[in-house]
Amino acid sequence: EKAREFRLLEDISREVFELYGFEEIQTPVVEKTELFTKSVGETTDIVGKEMYTFTDQGGDNLSLRPEGTAAVARAYLEHGFAVNRPESRLYYFGPMFRRERPQHGRLRQFHQIGAELFGLDGPEADSEIISIQADLLSRFGISRFSLQLNSLGCRDCQPAYRAALISYLQPITPRLCPDCRRRTATNPLRVLDCKEAVCRSLVDQAPQIPEFLCTPCRDHFAELKILLKALGIEFKIDPSLVRGLDYYSRTAFEFFPPPSKKRSGTDAISAGGRYDDLVADLGGPRIPAVGFALGMERVLLLPRKTLASPEPSRLALIGLGPSARRYIIKLARELRDHRIPAQPDLKGGSLKAQLHRADRQGASLVLVVGDNELAEEMILVRDLGKSSQEKVPAGKIVAFLADRWKRT
Ligand code: HAM
Repeated sequence: EKAREFRLLEDISREVFELYGFEEIQTPVVEKTELFTKSVGETTDIVGKEMYTFTDQGGDNLSLRPEGTAAVARAYLEHGFAVNRPESRLYYFGPMFRRERPQHGRLRQFHQIGAELFGLDGPEADSEIISIQADLLSRFGISRFSLQLNSLGCRDCQPAYRAALISYLQPITPRLCPDCRRRTATNPLRVLDCKEAVCRSLVDQAPQIPEFLCTPCRDHFAELKILLKALGIEFKIDPSLVRGLDYYSRTAFEFFPPPSKKRSGTDAISAGGRYDDLVADLGGPRIPAVGFALGMERVLLLPRKTLASPEPSRLALIGLGPSARRYIIKLARELRDHRIPAQPDLKGGSLKAQLHRADRQGASLVLVVGDNELAEEMILVRDLGKSSQEKVPAGKIVAFLADRWKRT
């Protein structure tokens, strides 16, 4: 059932991505560890604590990918997109690995649906990326969600903010949680989104990023807000939204489910942002980019309108006696050639036993062939749902079923 739901999420996503002009990219699950230290950042929890890292027989230091963006940016550079097709819209699906404490909605192997848009620095690209996620969620049957938005500034304005934050944090550092004491020195922005109550209350009065944005960052953010309003996508500004990966600049966002009494966690369903320096940091030219990733397991945990995921209709074929059994095996192949899903009973036995098996396997229609039918060149078609049956000439069975399958 889960596998079917996964496939449905993928099918819907492909449709939405193609509407937005995105193309699929597949990257390996294993990358050089260095890729993630350079991009996600050495001092982040993901790289510092959560990666599955190993040295292979050749002495290379490798990691299971904890996320998709770095690998897509690596592939983009390695395959010459930066030169030949700087403006690229790419989407991906796949398993990601993080050694987190497993709990509700937090897995060590989870699956993301993601997209990266390279080569555009205007806020219109950010609004496309946000709009795709809103469309995906609504197509997944999640009509209510909240979008939190922030701007993290750029390499021109972030240093001043960092300095102001560090001066604010230094006197209160001894009162912060052990993780945040470390973060004050290594990654001070992360202190802002610590979940510990003591840290939350201590950073309440901390200087806020929006006050430090330079004019181009401010304008970019202002225009994005105008675009989102025009699209009818509601959002809330959260100045303490900083994201747990280091490559972001300017826009950062997270989509949350509506609050629920049953769920205490506040895990995002989908998240991302702009990363204008990543391609350059990986050794390429300066190519701006923006993207997101959505957690498939998190979507499936949410209350949502049922995704139309009907059990596939099955057609069972029953042969009674050796000749009829040979006949149904051959007939099944012919039906499949006509795109009719046919499942011959591979075990045999009495009519009763085979009918029972067909029913258990979810067949809606059963074709029964015995010696009489073989002699008459007829096939008995039994509708298990309606408990009715009729005889159809063997030569007309394909046309008969094709018509039925079209109608179901
Ligand atoms: P992220 O916020 O680390 O961003 O992950 C994105 C989404 O993946 C989360 O919102 C969540 O739905 C899902 N997710 C993350 N960790 C887990 C887990 N342990 N178990 C289940 N689901 C999880 C990124 O990965 C960035 N690469 C997003 C991005 C793309 N930014 C720019 N482009």
